[in-house]
Amino acid sequence: MLITFEGIDGCGKTTQIGLLTAYLREIGRNVLTLREPGGTEFSEKIRDLLLHSKDKLTPQSELFLFEAARADLIEKVIKPALDKGTIVILDRFYDSTTAYQGYGRKIELSVVKEINRLAISGLKPVITFFLDVPVEISYERSNHRNLDKIEQSGDAFFNRVTEGYRTIANEESERIIIIDGTKEKEEIFQIIKDKIIHLFM
Ligand code: TYD
Repeated sequence: MLITFEGIDGCGKTTQIGLLTAYLREIGRNVLTLREPGGTEFSEKIRDLLLHSKDKLTPQSELFLFEAARADLIEKVIKPALDKGTIVILDRFYDSTTAYQGYGRKIELSVVKEINRLAISGLKPVITFFLDVPVEISYERSNHRNLDKIEQSGDAFFNRVTEGYRTIANEESERIIIIDGTKEKEEIFQIIKDKIIHLFM
């Protein structure tokens, strides 16, 4: 079972992923928590290029790098874990690419979706939690740290990404649960837990 989390930087995904991982382990499930891009030696190198290299990347190069990192992680880590019955929790997946490279960087959406399809080779999350926070809150929360390359893309970019996420979530309302990320973390976790318990029944 693959569970994914989505949202702009500073939406609170990391906290909720930590809580969900701990909860599932407590009830005796095998859980593997991963983040994209990353999770294999090759994908971590790509992560470093994407987030920290001084080279300016074109939107297209950026797209291909995210997809290359994804394909490697799926083949080497995610699929083998799922085959063993492990629950995989993934911090970002292809919805991030549609939101950031499609809506954010303005690469044609049909192209982004097609390349996503190629990279994921049939793998779909059973459920996706989209933590929706206004761009201003995302900025406030990340004020105290150094921004990586993508985080430096500016307000207009993040407004497009946010609107993109909302559109994706409405288009796929069966799979994607929209949660108001400005709520208290306990309240958010309760919503997530209710949905997950439902999946096990
Ligand atoms: P990360 O530090 O993991 O950010 P966060 O903690 O907010 O998840 O960095 C990942 C960055 O890469 C983040 O800014 C979103 C971006 N990204 C894309 O632009 N496209 C993608 O397909 C993925 C997976 C991430």
